[in-house]
Amino acid sequence: MILIVDDDDSVTASLGLLLRQHGHETGTAGAPDAAVAAIEARRPDLVLQDMNFSLGTGGEDGLALLGRIRARWPDLPVILITAWGSIPLAVRGMKAGASDFVSKPWSNTQLVQAVDTALALAATRAAEGKPASRRELDAHHDFSGLVGQDPRFLRILELVGRVAPTDASVLITGDSGTGKELIAEAIHRNSRRIGKPFVKVNLGGVSSTLFESEMFGHVRGAFTDARENRRGRFEVADQGTMFLDEIGDLDASSQVKLLRVLQDRSYEVLGSSSTRTVDVRVVSATNRALPDLVAKGIFREDLYYRLNLISIRLPSLAERRGDVPLLAATFLERAARQNAREAPRLSHRAVDWLQSRPWPGNVRELRQTIERAVLVLDGDLLDAEHFRALDDLERSTGRDETLPAPGAMTLPEMERAMIEKCLRYYDGNVTRAAEALGLSRAALYRRLEKHGLDVP
Ligand SMILES: Nc1ncnc2c1ncn2[C@@H]1O[C@H](COP(=O)(O)OP(=O)(O)OP(=O)(O)O)[C@@H](O)[C@H]1O
Ligand SMILES: [Mg+2]
Repeated sequence: MILIVDDDDSVTASLGLLLRQHGHETGTAGAPDAAVAAIEARRPDLVLQDMNFSLGTGGEDGLALLGRIRARWPDLPVILITAWGSIPLAVRGMKAGASDFVSKPWSNTQLVQAVDTALALAATRAAEGKPASRRELDAHHDFSGLVGQDPRFLRILELVGRVAPTDASVLITGDSGTGKELIAEAIHRNSRRIGKPFVKVNLGGVSSTLFESEMFGHVRGAFTDARENRRGRFEVADQGTMFLDEIGDLDASSQVKLLRVLQDRSYEVLGSSSTRTVDVRVVSATNRALPDLVAKGIFREDLYYRLNLISIRLPSLAERRGDVPLLAATFLERAARQNAREAPRLSHRAVDWLQSRPWPGNVRELRQTIERAVLVLDGDLLDAEHFRALDDLERSTGRDETLPAPGAMTLPEMERAMIEKCLRYYDGNVTRAAEALGLSRAALYRRLEKHGLDVP
């Protein structure tokens, strides 16, 4: 049962009708005290509450009611209905423990989606208990390609299994190479949107001037270079999942534009006046500390709350060392297959050595270390000394021996080759490649443009 709390009868009536049409049972209360009494009488599954019950419009009444509900029924999901444009209030509500917020005038689809998502999440939280075993998780979900048995990793898979079927927006954080993109793909694969588009956008590579054209598309003639119509990423992702990678690098003006489409689920194609609606599930990822960026005013708080209904933090590989042997064995098999050779075995000392490493590049670095070992070492047993030798080689050959002979390459050619090598080495990760090249991200993008190299 959903309890609708609003002092405007026409609002409770239209909300009640809408929710009953979507199969929900509803109850109403016209004021905070009546709402608390109603909950005491019969605990609803969710409360949908307005923020103003007296002449004041500051929303303090609503926050007070939310506080009373939170104090007595900590697990009862509450969705706030806020007046248009009162995002700061909604953000205060989210901080005070609201599950979500919808702004008036609301879109029925969005409101029903928010209610269904909050109910589904509450049900999954209630089901939370001893972490399921990897076998149980694989029996119920498709986690193929995701290697790991560590309890922390299993808890993440369990959470993915629970939230994937909902439409909740998910924010994935974790250091570089921890598997954020793999988890994003798994969320899509285990959602009702499987079979629909999974559109990945590397926001770090989208400049503020190109943001609208990239995300919303443009019609021919919308700006000088717009020689033909172009579909935007949101249009391509419609009905599917939008993966917003490196969300922490989004500039301020693009943040506003992104917030709007996430809030209203509608946008305008550049150069056209018609409004399009879109139905996407949003998953975003970053290796930056978004709460710090919010505290510094670099990242919008309201956008943060829109993206972060569910947050998943991926542990670094050093935090789940128990998974190193399994991951190493998987990558060994895979690399051997790719090189059409028998997979060498790993000696105990090799496993100990691999488990003792700090792995700053996390799983990606482990994968590359194994791939390099398979490439350069023959014989059917890989021992610690092999990896040590490889590691030394990697460290020593950094400089002179690998420089081309004088006259063999021009400086621009060397720059281009080095940029390509770094992008390959870091799997197209611009942040890591820029770091390794001693460049800022912007400087690297300029060089990519200069050399006519594709932005990964
Ligand atoms: N649990 C895992 N099982 C198997 N492979 C994994 C796992 N986690 C990561 N990998 C592999 O490690 C590499 C890096 O993973 P991914 O690209 O998802 O990392 P990321 O967190 O998005 O990194 P970045 O922040 O640098 O973009 C990929 O090749 C991926 O296949
Ligand atoms: Mg990534």
